[in-house]
Amino acid sequence: MFLEKRRSWIPPVPNMLQDPLSVSFQKGKKREVDPRLQSLFPITSEECSYSLEKGSGKKSDLKIGVLFSGGPAPGGHNVIVGMEQALTGGELIGFLGGPAGLVEGRFRRLQKEEILLFRNTGGFDLLGSGRTKIETEEQLAAATRVCQELKLDGLVIVGGDDSNTNAAVLAEYLLAKGCKTRVIGLPKTIDGDLQAEHVPISFGFDTACKTYSELIGNIAKDAVSSLKYTHFIKLMGRSASHIALECALSTHPNLTLIGEEEKGLSQVVDEIVSVIERRSKKGKEYGAILIPEGLIEFIPEMKRLISALNQIAEKDERVILKLEKEDKEVFETLPQEIQKQLLLDRDPHGNVLLSQVDTQVLLIDLVAKRLKERGFMGKFSPQAHFLGYEGRAAYPSNFDATYCLALGMAAVFAIRDGLTGVLCGIPNLKEKVDLWQIWAVPLVSLMALEKRKGKEKPVIAKTVVDLKGKAFARFSRDRKRWEEEDAYLSPGPIQFFGDKDLCDAPPLLLTS
Ligand code: FBP
Repeated sequence: MFLEKRRSWIPPVPNMLQDPLSVSFQKGKKREVDPRLQSLFPITSEECSYSLEKGSGKKSDLKIGVLFSGGPAPGGHNVIVGMEQALTGGELIGFLGGPAGLVEGRFRRLQKEEILLFRNTGGFDLLGSGRTKIETEEQLAAATRVCQELKLDGLVIVGGDDSNTNAAVLAEYLLAKGCKTRVIGLPKTIDGDLQAEHVPISFGFDTACKTYSELIGNIAKDAVSSLKYTHFIKLMGRSASHIALECALSTHPNLTLIGEEEKGLSQVVDEIVSVIERRSKKGKEYGAILIPEGLIEFIPEMKRLISALNQIAEKDERVILKLEKEDKEVFETLPQEIQKQLLLDRDPHGNVLLSQVDTQVLLIDLVAKRLKERGFMGKFSPQAHFLGYEGRAAYPSNFDATYCLALGMAAVFAIRDGLTGVLCGIPNLKEKVDLWQIWAVPLVSLMALEKRKGKEKPVIAKTVVDLKGKAFARFSRDRKRWEEEDAYLSPGPIQFFGDKDLCDAPPLLLTS
């Protein structure tokens, strides 16, 4: 019943995208590119930004491929709905299981009736997803062959920073090989760390944060009702703390750790202990603490340790023999389970599997020890939670559903107008949908060289929380007060139908 209702909701379309024949992408400024990247991307590093403007447009009779890449993010299916809506003819090809589907030529022809069954639904199950990094000559040549055999006019890669790195590499390669397939990236990731001048936030972030905030609100409500547990809630989001910050603004927990503040482990533990002791003196032996999953990557001694571990091939007990004294000492203070989790294989892009590291358990362990050392006489009953996968495939909020539909349409117009190696974005997402503007920025302009698996690699740089930004300022203004007061908010479940202020609200990070 709910599925039927949700599917039949038709997201609004920005004015700029309503009539394909009256708009086209216009060239803007040439973007600054790191000079070291110019030799790696000699063609696409010359690209400019584009904006969709009124002017004569063409029909979109095109054959386009699309793939989902990386972790699911709510709204992805609406990208395909938007693409279908923008095509005036031609065909949509869906690659299965992420970038590997492109390289291995695994695909399905998508029909309108099937696509519409997925409108406004969560997950990426129409096509599946994957994290294959396209980098070897064989992979690039195989992907080119598939694009040529299918005679694709364009390929849309729906992904986060690593997936859009794939898009940039592929766009350059296809151009160099004289292949006509244009590559367009779309900003997907619940982490919210793929941001740029014309891309204020990636899709999926809004829904994931609203899903987690509902649960955090419920947990805090339980805490203040049962009066006996201190909840340590780790939140997904990879390195950056955007999700923790957004959830803090919507739920007002007692403490939210923000990785970007780069505090040492001991300082983090002291901070938690201080909140617990002060609350205990007031008779409050309960609370809620938010922990971004990327926290440990920002703790200076852990950052050093992770970087040292990344350089060592052996990922077992032999690692201890290869660590320098300082790193060895840090490693040995960690509980065995955490040591094992830090040694797990990296993902294909060289990222530590932060979602598998139980930072919440580590902090509970260290806080309990510190409280004991300090002779704490109150009660400390911790509960560990991890909110992650439950937010990635939820029904998209109206904001994400509408955003994705617009992105899908924008990608088709970008291919129609001959753009390649660009990321589509909507700079004014916090305004009314009617007024949304459509931009395309060169992917290379978002790239930097980073050490991955011990080697310098060009990657799209992650955007972390800006400690001078408005959202962080809003959080800083109130965080002290939330420590001792019970200022918890319970935002409740995502609303899809009814009051527009409730249903269509953009994320707080955009409106701060
Ligand atoms: P993307 O960057 O691909 O969007 O993935 C985001 C994410 O959900 C992270 O928040 C998390 O650390 C990671 O994926 C988990 O990856 P996996 O699905 O491989 O367990």
